[in-house]
Amino acid sequence: MSVYQATASAPVNIAVIKYWGKRDTKLILPTNSSLSVTLDQDHLRSTTTSRADPAFTQDTLWLNGKIDEIKAGGRLETCIREMKRLRKEIIEDKDASAPKLSEYKVHIASYNNFPTAAGLASSASGFAALVSSLAQLYSLVPPVVSPSTLSLIARQGSGSACRSLYGGFVAWEQGVRPDGSDSLAIEVAPQAHWPEMHALICVVSDTKKGTSSTSGMQRTVETSTLLQHRIKEVVPARMAAITTAIQQRDFDTFARITMADSNSFHAVCLDTEPPIFYLNDVSRAIISVVVEYNRLSVERGEGYKAAYTYDAGPNAVIYALEKDIKEIIQLVLAYFPQTAGEFKDVLGVFGGSVQDVNVH
Ligand code: ADP
Ligand code: DP6
Ligand code: CO
Repeated sequence: MSVYQATASAPVNIAVIKYWGKRDTKLILPTNSSLSVTLDQDHLRSTTTSRADPAFTQDTLWLNGKIDEIKAGGRLETCIREMKRLRKEIIEDKDASAPKLSEYKVHIASYNNFPTAAGLASSASGFAALVSSLAQLYSLVPPVVSPSTLSLIARQGSGSACRSLYGGFVAWEQGVRPDGSDSLAIEVAPQAHWPEMHALICVVSDTKKGTSSTSGMQRTVETSTLLQHRIKEVVPARMAAITTAIQQRDFDTFARITMADSNSFHAVCLDTEPPIFYLNDVSRAIISVVVEYNRLSVERGEGYKAAYTYDAGPNAVIYALEKDIKEIIQLVLAYFPQTAGEFKDVLGVFGGSVQDVNVH
């Protein structure tokens, strides 16, 4: 008897223009467009194996070895249902000899090789890997199904996941249609356009955040007046400006906008009732170090050289060009040595050393 099983991995993406707020919580349609950089698959990734078998009695997901409940009407159920629907419509209804995998229950096992729910975009790589592994299992791969179709389904698992289906610099256009069919990720530029771009991941804390992204952004939409200014005035101008900066490989502008948008996102978190604090003292100390580093560089006439950004968690991601990465790693280690000093238990550095991650 045949075994129907497939494994796929997906990398995380770290936004430089942040998605924060939904206009439709069921379809996961955002209140603003966003833009991110997909990291290299070799570093932070989710790896997911899916298996279909007529003997299985229910769809089940194990996340990092523990059962993660698939709730009725929830996002996991939506993604699995949509993938089964595509399998039926595109493969089984057209070829009577194709095995009816859409009628079998699936068992899915996923592992993240980095901290889960700690503000390092595990939901992005997680749902991208889930949809990719089901796509392999169901033979829904190009040219039968486009990355764009898979991205639309991943979006309904976690908004940020729609961007992890693409490498390089990726925009998620918010769209205008109520059914979400134009709320899609698109490639702004491939990694090869700007291969010197690197990301440094500084794990300040690997514990699960107190407020999930989903509940945090919902509270912001309901209570923050600052969010309205952000989505109407601030983000549209920044999306246009950072797209141009990427096209022109203008790191100085890229860095200024990236840091400004991280600050704006954490400001709307603070403007939420009750307020949400994702940054801690170490996160803020890293910001100060980067600010000072850039100030000295500007004084020398060399422009900005490092850009911090924080997702919904205390962990820093520093974007920088390859030529400056060594110096920045030395700087971070000098201020936050992981082997000695007061930060020993506070600043864990990913994988035992500061990780220098190239973009995917
Ligand atoms: P993060 O900042 O890590 O993205 P979120 O609060 O957005 O944190 O989402 C964390 C949630 O994403 C987890 O509690 C889990 O439900 C889901 N998730 C994380 N990794 C995976 C995975 N590999 N497969 C499926 N779901 C995942
Ligand atoms: C701060 O995509 O995790 O990382 O759609 O509710 O699953 P859900 O939220 P999620 O939010 C990500 C927020 C962010 C910014 C970003 O990645 O753009
Ligand atoms: Co997330």
